[in-house]
Amino acid sequence: MADEMIAVSGITKTFFTGSEPSRVLDDVSFTIQKGEIVTLLGKSGCGKSTLLHMVGGFTKADQGQVLLDSQQVQRPTKRCVMLFQQRNLLPWRSVLKNVELGLEGEKLSADDKKERVLDALKLVGLEQHLHKFPHELSGGMQQRVAIARAFAMQPDVILMDEPFAALDTFSRYRLQDELVRIQSQKKTTILLVTHDIDEAVYVSDRVLIMSSHPGKIYKEMKIAQTKPRDRSHGDFHYFRKKILDEFELSGVPNTSEYSI
Ligand SMILES: Nc1ncnc2c1ncn2[C@@H]1O[C@H](COP(=O)(O)OP(=O)(O)OP(=O)(O)O)[C@@H](O)[C@H]1O
Ligand SMILES: [Mg+2]
Repeated sequence: MADEMIAVSGITKTFFTGSEPSRVLDDVSFTIQKGEIVTLLGKSGCGKSTLLHMVGGFTKADQGQVLLDSQQVQRPTKRCVMLFQQRNLLPWRSVLKNVELGLEGEKLSADDKKERVLDALKLVGLEQHLHKFPHELSGGMQQRVAIARAFAMQPDVILMDEPFAALDTFSRYRLQDELVRIQSQKKTTILLVTHDIDEAVYVSDRVLIMSSHPGKIYKEMKIAQTKPRDRSHGDFHYFRKKILDEFELSGVPNTSEYSI
């Protein structure tokens, strides 16, 4: 399909610990349209990171395939950038040089590179901190440098593995706001992994709820609300409760055959 950026079909993965096989992902399929933000939400150990690494070309599936803009993913490419939860920065490089790192090997003039780097740092509000080093920044600022580097590369897709999980609530909210704002300008396709239901409802166009042992896409939920969203609005709580019900945390019994 012309507007399909990612198509995951029939992904199966078994890991071995010693000689014991453990089926981590079982027949996982989903698609993501160009410009969508989609979240993989699921309990610890359900296979979210494994799945994300497969989309990025870092891990091979036993069965099934991933298409990125109709091309089979076989290794990591610059069209699809991965943002990790922590340790995204090189401690010996300044903010400016850390963002520049993403453009190494690009056929760009020095001026064009500089312009891209400065634009990206402006997007995340760090233009006053170009010459600082990672240890001089808060955790939130460090993640903003990593986000700037990802957007400076102008990829088609950004994969994010719990990028805000280590931050305090206020920094997390602020970065979620920034992500939604920047993505609405750049229209980058984003696949994000989180445990945080509020984060999923706040940033996503669709949430893919995963069940565990083995990991499967158990339910897909469209968050039909315009962005930016209001965390205190009734609609926000409606989606939050719907997801909580799926996770059997809201006290409502869930009759599903899968344990989420
Ligand atoms: N390289 C590996 N070798 C063996 N087992 C692995 C490997 N990578 C992951 N696993 C196992 O696969 C399962 C899924 O791991 P994964 O990291 O994908 O979970 P997750 O959903 O991202 O969890 P979390 O939310 O805690 O990050 C876990 O049981 C994990 O122990
Ligand atoms: Mg993980």
